[in-house]
Amino acid sequence: MTFIAQDEINRIRSNASIVDVISSYIPLTQKGKNYFGVCPFHEDHSPSMSVSEEKQIYKCFSCGATGNVFTFVENYLNLSFAESVELIASKVGISLSTPLQKKKESKFKEEYALMDFTLKLYQNNLNTEEGQKAIAYLKKRGLLEDTIKDFSIGLSLDKNMLYTILRKKEYSEKTMEDLGLINKGKEDVYDVFQNRIMFPIHNLEGQVVGFTARCYLKEETPKYLNTKETYIFKKGNILFNYHRAKDAIRLQKEVVIVEGNMDAIRLYSVGIKNVIALMGTSLTKEQIEAIKKLRSKVILMLDNDNAGETATLAIGNTLEENKISFSIVRLSGEKDPDEYIIQNGCDAMLENIKNAISFVDFKLNYFKKNKNLNEANDLAEYIKAVIDGLKNTTDAILKEVTLQKLAKDYNISYAVLKEQLGEKEIERKEKQELKVVKEKKESQSSYDKVCSKILFYMMNAKEYVKLYQTKLGIFPTKDHRVIANEIIYYLENHKTINLADFISYAENTNVKNEIMAIISNEKDMNITEDGMMELLSIIKKKIKKEEIKKLKEEIKSEYDINKKMALLEKIAELKKGNEFE
Ligand code: UTP
Ligand code: MN
Repeated sequence: MTFIAQDEINRIRSNASIVDVISSYIPLTQKGKNYFGVCPFHEDHSPSMSVSEEKQIYKCFSCGATGNVFTFVENYLNLSFAESVELIASKVGISLSTPLQKKKESKFKEEYALMDFTLKLYQNNLNTEEGQKAIAYLKKRGLLEDTIKDFSIGLSLDKNMLYTILRKKEYSEKTMEDLGLINKGKEDVYDVFQNRIMFPIHNLEGQVVGFTARCYLKEETPKYLNTKETYIFKKGNILFNYHRAKDAIRLQKEVVIVEGNMDAIRLYSVGIKNVIALMGTSLTKEQIEAIKKLRSKVILMLDNDNAGETATLAIGNTLEENKISFSIVRLSGEKDPDEYIIQNGCDAMLENIKNAISFVDFKLNYFKKNKNLNEANDLAEYIKAVIDGLKNTTDAILKEVTLQKLAKDYNISYAVLKEQLGEKEIERKEKQELKVVKEKKESQSSYDKVCSKILFYMMNAKEYVKLYQTKLGIFPTKDHRVIANEIIYYLENHKTINLADFISYAENTNVKNEIMAIISNEKDMNITEDGMMELLSIIKKKIKKEEIKKLKEEIKSEYDINKKMALLEKIAELKKGNEFE
């Protein structure tokens, strides 16, 4: 949420040149009216991003990334929208009427405050007698005082100690329960976390949203107790240590992904700060987006057991599908990165990272498991699995090298392998094309397309909004109506509208993604009044057709002859009428 007034945002934007700003990050060359450069939002080498000085927007014709000067720096530098406005303001020499810090009021102010207070309380508990045991445990695990502080590690105590103190501070019981800190029994209330070492979990922006709590006095099940899903703690949206690591990651252009929180803490504490941990062993869409935003190469380093190996294959496939470049470390000896560093030290770990292998190499090993390659059947299965695993690889040289290696190692004709891979690739392509066709059909009916186009026109100029209002009045479908209403609302407040400013406004609406998709899908930037009239008449005709259909249904179930006649007249009237009078 930004709390900068829309007018101020617009003023800053109109003082900036999108071409100047983008070309300070990536080279642009002018071709005709527009400028072109290599899109930084997907893996590419050809200049598929166009930047329009006239419209003050950019657009990638390959990946669909689009937006204005703010969204460019927002995505390129991974800033919040408000931060991106602040940055552009400083570039054009405007100072914000109220500095950003003061504006960072949050929707969950009370919740975050409560979590912060709880965190401090847990940290304080380390100073108690119980705390000495906890510190002894942490020290035994080789965590230094600095690390305990860096990660704000704390301790929960007996029964309802947290609850009692929070009550005294007059925090609401309901909020405590909602945030997963207390449980209410029939008669009593008790703390969810008792006698555990408390590791706070932050969201991607760095607010404490939950805890993972380890037993330390004796082995217990579960070993780690985690905060339940709450409205601020959504496991699928979180990557442990992300907020702490992101600067180091961007600097090094590399991020190490581990399984356990302790692994991340260990790597970080020995100076490998570009590390994040998964909160589970699959990746959600949100987590993928967060990883993509880092624009760094991934080093996937999961535990050294079967589960870790299987997860490496699954997550590797996900990363590949999402076109994130990555390589893999499989440690040997110790069970996880944490113990590996304790046993072998930081340099040995760095050596492993340096020697990370490709996904293909990982699969060459992985598919060998439980197979006797001296047996014809096993060998055939193995070769097929490896070739199947190559079909998504875009690296032509890697493919070639792997095929040659297979041919040589197992004495198989290279030509046969090549042919087999070719077939797989065609299969994949066909499947993909089928999927694209199907998705297109499902997501964009021609009616949808026309509505989207009308909305796109409306975002560009006041005249088109007026045409919509006078000639059509209202969309029959709710989704389109909601966006149209946002446009009208914007226009009423600002008296004028253009694409670049409306994009800023869209940031804070509930239909941001839908609006951006409309802009992204619009290939033809040339808009004319005739074009708009044609689009409106298509929708008008459709509405009319629906009305006639409805009236005909009514006639069927009407027995009163007079009423029947009246309905027929209505239909005739509709059929006669011009679209626009
Ligand atoms: P691990 O068992 O590999 O954790 O589980 P670890 O980091 O090595 O733990 P230590 O070294 O024994 O302290 C990996 C991750 O799975 C989740 C945690 O997020 C943990 O970091 N986990 C594990 C749980 O949520 N609950 C459990 O009981 C165990
Ligand atoms: Mn461990």
